[in-house]
Amino acid sequence: MAERQKLVLAMRPDILDLVLPAPLRARLDALVDVHPEPVTDWDGCDRLATADLLLTGWGCPPLDAAALDRAPRLAAVVHAAGTVKGHVGPEVWQRGIAVSSAADANAAPVIEFTLATVWLAARRTLGVSAAYRRGVLPTYGDRRGADGAVVGVIGASRIGRGVIARLLAAPAGFRVLLADPYVGADEAAALGVEATDLDDLCRRSDIVTVHAPDLPETHHLLDARRLALLPDGAAVINTARGRLVDTDALTLECAAGRVDAYLDVTEPEPLPAGHPLYGLRNVLLTPHIAGCQGTEVRRLGAYAVDEVARWIQGEPLRGAVHADDLARIA
Ligand SMILES: NC(=O)c1ccc[n+]([C@@H]2O[C@H](COP(=O)([O-])OP(=O)(O)OC[C@H]3O[C@@H](n4cnc5c(N)ncnc54)[C@H](O)[C@@H]3O)[C@@H](O)[C@H]2O)c1
Repeated sequence: MAERQKLVLAMRPDILDLVLPAPLRARLDALVDVHPEPVTDWDGCDRLATADLLLTGWGCPPLDAAALDRAPRLAAVVHAAGTVKGHVGPEVWQRGIAVSSAADANAAPVIEFTLATVWLAARRTLGVSAAYRRGVLPTYGDRRGADGAVVGVIGASRIGRGVIARLLAAPAGFRVLLADPYVGADEAAALGVEATDLDDLCRRSDIVTVHAPDLPETHHLLDARRLALLPDGAAVINTARGRLVDTDALTLECAAGRVDAYLDVTEPEPLPAGHPLYGLRNVLLTPHIAGCQGTEVRRLGAYAVDEVARWIQGEPLRGAVHADDLARIA
């Protein structure tokens, strides 16, 4: 009988039961020999010597050269979360170790969260709600609806593409613009959207939603100049990363009442106490909750256990992450 492969868990202990609740853990145990305690520090971790697989999650320490030197059998790192950039560096691929991420599973709730904010933004809900608190009801003529709204999507990432598909399927008849240097006019047309550059997208969009990865070239992609191009009454949604938007410039636009914002991520994150964004009624601030939360975290574990099953059966990994793609992915 072939020897069963050995798997080490590497993540914060307090999330282990969320990632792998009992039925998932039982499924994993049926596939491989799992060391019961999760690792958070490679120092003194002798179980790396026999590990064939790592199942990683939030809090996994970086897999540096020293750790990899102590893991001669390691063949695959299966991440039960989104980006692997926090713990997997080029050395992992150079050693021929396969890498997989559950970013597809984490994308689904971000897509839903974004759609929810698009609907709120289309109605200028935050401003209407603030006025309502002051006793002001909008007249029927003042009320804004979603039909025909122009939504500018920055980044045809897996989340961006999911948002686009859902927007186009909605009865509102959204018009969707896309800015993504990796997507040309033909591919954009196949997605049902119009490819354009960022400046044009800002000028023409009622709602701009950010879905590009955090890369050197995406830092402050929405800076003061581009934010000033937005039409009066526009909304900015950011569920990607705070660094993509100039927080100070956006704060000024929101404080002037010209732009509304729905920010699940900020720079810095969290915002310091007393930051002016906390006090603006036309800004919805959430503390990075768009991805899998609470009961949803098991989706990441389920995706990872499916990957382990594929690996054991010699099938291709569905969430394979390739070193060549790192410069353009999250
Ligand atoms: N708020 C949350 O909880 C949460 C959860 C998951 C992901 N995210 C964030 O959402 C964003 C999208 O994640 P993903 O997994 O869909 O990304 P992804 O890895 O699928 O995105 C890669 C794609 O982004 C596009 N892109 C690259 N550079 C670009 C640029 N300069 N301008 C526009 N588009 C560009 C390209 O099409 C590329 O293929 C990331 O910033 C990620 O960190 C946030």
